[in-house]
Amino acid sequence: MKKENEEMVVTPWEVSGKIDYDKLIEKFGTKRITQELRDRLAKHAGYMHTQLRRWIFFSHRDLDWWLDTYEKGEPVGLYTGRGPSGPVHLGHMLPWFFTKYMQDAFDADLYFQMTDDEKFLFYDDLTLDESVGYTYDNSLDLIAVGFDAEKTHIISDVNDIDHLYRYGLEVAKRVTCSTIKALFGLNDSDNIGMIFYPAIQAVPCFLQSVREDRKVAVMIPAAIDQDPYWRMTRDISEKLGFYKPAQIHAKFLPGLGAGGKMSASMPETAIFTIDPPEVAEKKIMGAFTGGQPTVREQREKGGNPGVCSVYAYYFFLFEEDDKKLQEIEQACKTGALVCGDCKARLAGIISRFLVDFQEKREKARDNLESFLIK
Ligand code: TRP
Repeated sequence: MKKENEEMVVTPWEVSGKIDYDKLIEKFGTKRITQELRDRLAKHAGYMHTQLRRWIFFSHRDLDWWLDTYEKGEPVGLYTGRGPSGPVHLGHMLPWFFTKYMQDAFDADLYFQMTDDEKFLFYDDLTLDESVGYTYDNSLDLIAVGFDAEKTHIISDVNDIDHLYRYGLEVAKRVTCSTIKALFGLNDSDNIGMIFYPAIQAVPCFLQSVREDRKVAVMIPAAIDQDPYWRMTRDISEKLGFYKPAQIHAKFLPGLGAGGKMSASMPETAIFTIDPPEVAEKKIMGAFTGGQPTVREQREKGGNPGVCSVYAYYFFLFEEDDKKLQEIEQACKTGALVCGDCKARLAGIISRFLVDFQEKREKARDNLESFLIK
């Protein structure tokens, strides 16, 4: 592999190279989640989510302040979103599972933004009808995760712009072209929609405050690549009379290939929620592992779970029992477990997950309407 391919890149549009999460904390100026903060979250939820226990959520801005606000009995809310440019895969859903935990723990409203405008503007070959179509298709996945219909408000930027435009203008007036160019790496040959778009992504940070006519402390659970949007938003929040949004950042779910996050642009290394179970099983059986080239060598030398995409799937999503996870790790390292068996086991788990999820996804069609912002 060429050296330049290994350099870490983390922007809202590109995540590549070997991700060094400590460096990201430093680079973005965020804070590491501490043991104490993790315990405080778990205390309110009644249990510690696997993604906290394993430090998958690892970084934050103002989580302590957000918890203080909640503990004082003041209103808190949640905001996250999705760029609807295609079908949803497991990497997209990782922070959604955690967001559902947060909604339950804090009995909070969730504003969920579907950025069908953003994806239309940023992708040459995506039509507006396609991105808006994916808004409603991807909403089925969101609903299937189990959010509360009364407390969840899905926003299509294109169709629900009347909820956003007023405050989008208030934001836009206070942010310069040069700030946006520097934050997002845009230049003069990019289309003018891309320059304006960040103002629209800022608005759901304030929407609950506007609609309830009181200051709501908003928490954004998401992967860390969206950080430039929130730096911009935090700069102008108080000028508009709102709190700065707090954030809690997740790591990226790896793809099934060697290195890199799960990405829709490499469909053979991503598990989509609409993959037929047998297709997903095949992808798992073809995944990159940390194993030796032959079974014999594996038995002798053992494998390396640290670089293994199959192990990563157990770690991130599919083996929540710490003791069992450790058993897999040990059996791999000692050579007692070979990759074929380990993959087959994961393939079975994922296949059963998909059967169940797809059923929920179909049922979601019946109550889609009740999740859309009113
Ligand atoms: N820009 C995000 C994407 O391309 C979508 C998004 C909008 C989002 N608002 C958000 C993601 C809030 C996380 C949190 O995927």
